[in-house]
Amino acid sequence: MLRSHRAGDLRSEHTGEKVALCGWVHTRRDHGGVIFIDLRDVAGLVQVVLDPQSLPLAEDLRSEYCIRVEGEVTARKEGTINPKLGTGEIEVAAGSVEILSRSETPPFQLDEYHETDELLRLKHRYLDLRRESMQRNLKLRHELISAIRRFFDAEGFYEIETPMLTRATPEGARDYLVPSRVHPGRFYALPQSPQLFKQLLMVSGFDRYYQIVRCFRDEDLRADRQPDFTQLDLEMSFVEQDDVLEVTERMFKNVWKEVMGVDLADFPRIPFSEAMERFGSDKPDLRYGLELRDLGDVFSDTEARVFRSVLDDGGAIKAITIPGQGELPRKQLDALVDDAKALGAGGLVYVGVTGDGLKSPMDKFFSDAERKGLVESAGASVGDLILIVADNRKSVVYKVLGGLRTRLAERFGHVPEYDPANPDYWKFAWVVDFPWFDWNEDEERWDPIHHPFTGVVEETLEFLETDPAKVISKSYDITLNGWELASGSIRIHDRDMQSGVFRALGISEEEANEKFGFLLDAFKYGAPPHGGIAPGIDRIVALAAGETNIREVIAFPKTQTAFDPLTGAPSTVDEAQLKILNLKSTAPAVVED
Ligand code: AMO
Repeated sequence: MLRSHRAGDLRSEHTGEKVALCGWVHTRRDHGGVIFIDLRDVAGLVQVVLDPQSLPLAEDLRSEYCIRVEGEVTARKEGTINPKLGTGEIEVAAGSVEILSRSETPPFQLDEYHETDELLRLKHRYLDLRRESMQRNLKLRHELISAIRRFFDAEGFYEIETPMLTRATPEGARDYLVPSRVHPGRFYALPQSPQLFKQLLMVSGFDRYYQIVRCFRDEDLRADRQPDFTQLDLEMSFVEQDDVLEVTERMFKNVWKEVMGVDLADFPRIPFSEAMERFGSDKPDLRYGLELRDLGDVFSDTEARVFRSVLDDGGAIKAITIPGQGELPRKQLDALVDDAKALGAGGLVYVGVTGDGLKSPMDKFFSDAERKGLVESAGASVGDLILIVADNRKSVVYKVLGGLRTRLAERFGHVPEYDPANPDYWKFAWVVDFPWFDWNEDEERWDPIHHPFTGVVEETLEFLETDPAKVISKSYDITLNGWELASGSIRIHDRDMQSGVFRALGISEEEANEKFGFLLDAFKYGAPPHGGIAPGIDRIVALAAGETNIREVIAFPKTQTAFDPLTGAPSTVDEAQLKILNLKSTAPAVVED
């Protein structure tokens, strides 16, 4: 090794030792006669003192030069100790210095205090990754993944790899396709998840499988979505729902204890219907209240026309109360109405609760009993603001108020600051008892809420072909602080049952056989009952690190438009390559970025 120690590891117990260090010039200060350098490596920073009289090369050193220093660890003088730095009690008096490689001036400053355009950061990601926060995030990612692996190894799970060049796996997104040269006209699909393979592994008898695995989905990108991302995928045989929940919850508790140093509370189990009623969302942020309140009873006999027709049509009237915002100026109230409309509402009724009555454009339509009932049912007090959404479709009420709830929480300061050492900050929860089907209005058909291999709660099986809305699935999610962290289910392991589900989804036998025949075939040979789950690694790490975008915990992520500014991917390919693949592009000529 060119070095004896890592710079950031040096402590006062090394005082008097001769050391050799390699790293980057983080900062350089010339104090006339002495040059101070903060030398940075993967372990942190240490101050190096150089005398330009004896070491003239010290004058040449600039930011981000890669250098090697030999010297002696010395105690810092009283008054110059830096308690913020692990190495703050010592410094290194350089005896020699060598430039390993010079650096041009970086295109942006590598400290944490300068906001840098993200495109520029991603274009020079190798420099961006030198920043302290990125170093910290990738180290945390490594620690979390290795703790996860240790847990599953100790529990008797085997890590088994599954193919990347495969057939479509239906997880609801579009596939990334790879053309085959050897089989003209045919395409592999990159896996949206290893779902079918992990089920096949259960048929093969590997009764506890896990994998830290890359998945690919061509879907609209958001802060918590990348086109290629990583799952902790697991599957178990001879289990029921509680068994999968128990092992997964224990894994999170172990990992959080080991890596984050906190004891997590037990995860509450919230039925899907309750999550929707209380939070308008199946991934509720439980760090604050602002729960949805039902006003159906209050307005059951109302003369207010809007509310009347909604209730007559079997719709819902629900509200959120924002404490202390009863006097919000008109402009801000109008902005809230716009927010609600953007989320799909026809309108939003606001009601300020004041010492002398209610302040609302709707007030004149309310009876005294309704005014009183409204304040009570909304859980409001004097000074509060009540926001009401009424719609014939309950799903619209949930979506609008669920969406407003998170925005209002942010806007009015209800979201707690990142506080990783506080067990209360981590609001993990299970969401259970999901409906199996979801009505797809655009396509006018039933889609699976999870995927089509998800088991059905036996008591609701009778509705499969008569009233799909009533069918409950054996699926479960983990939510953490408003993010969906994991999804899983107990699977169907019976061939006839799986065929029945395909029928209910409007998938013909022919299509089912063509797409999933290999799974249906495997079920002919003694398939064990099985189930599993897949937590998203990028989301786990982002939440653990206190980041709001998973790009901050991925070494080389893509932009919101699935573009990689570093390599320029996706790129065009030359005609010859297309020809070998029997492909012809009809796209307009591409101007390379
Ligand atoms: P699902 O599709 O819900 O389930 O995905 C499981 C978890 O993977 C993560 N995730 C993503 N993370 C980043 N970017 C994306 N584009 C993205 N898509 C999903 C989320 C999500 O909760 N095969 C099933 C699991 C099972 O049934 O065992 C599946 O993939 O954290």
